[in-house]
Amino acid sequence: MLDISIINAYSDNYIYLLRNEKKNITSVIDPGEAEPVIKFLNSKNLHLDEIINTHHHNDHIGGNDKLLDVYKSKLIAPSYEKNRILNVDKFVSDNETINIAGISTKVIHTPGHTLGHICFYMPEEKCLFSGDTLFYLGCGRVFEGTMKQMWLSLVKLRSLPEDTTVYCGHEYTLANMKFANYIDSDNALLNKVSLEIKNKREEGFPSVPFNLGIEKKINPFLRADDDNFIKSIGLSSNNATESFGEIRLKKDSF
Ligand SMILES: [Fe+2]
Repeated sequence: MLDISIINAYSDNYIYLLRNEKKNITSVIDPGEAEPVIKFLNSKNLHLDEIINTHHHNDHIGGNDKLLDVYKSKLIAPSYEKNRILNVDKFVSDNETINIAGISTKVIHTPGHTLGHICFYMPEEKCLFSGDTLFYLGCGRVFEGTMKQMWLSLVKLRSLPEDTTVYCGHEYTLANMKFANYIDSDNALLNKVSLEIKNKREEGFPSVPFNLGIEKKINPFLRADDDNFIKSIGLSSNNATESFGEIRLKKDSF
């Protein structure tokens, strides 16, 4: 059984610290900064065995070098971003099954935000680390890939089991929630979840993690192929990629 801790970095990044007590393995996902990770590890008297990166953006890998220096950890990163992440021990690719913190993990390539972005799914733990591909009520901006690539990446994540718990790379939830409520104001489930999110944030707690089954019904970016939804928000296309692109552009200028 995995113990997952959330560490804050920068203004709204989340770093995930994975501790497998039974196997005595500690891993970190996307350490954008080293200091908060070192502080956390010191407070628990832990060594860092593995560093895992979802993509090459500095707010996800910025702490790699310092942590490698201090702990001599093993660095695992996407093979598609070979030239953009340094000092990698193991490159991983789509569909590969690897061990993270001693837990069997499937690598899912999700191009769009960056071309080489990968997510990590742990079937036994029923959890997904979605980096900057899927956010709570949102998705990453499409920087390097096409709208089609991003949509297909989200469809891949959407196909995971309903009871999957999702850990994403940023606390963007309130802004995403505002947009979701703006375009989908009659969604009763969205209204209910929004209230829960507001309460959590007001009390100073992270909004994450979140449940994928519920997310499929309330995240506008996962519903670009839902004809009724598309009509209800005033779009006319029968093409999911086009609809997704329009929703993404609407959000970008919201
Ligand atoms: Fe990013």
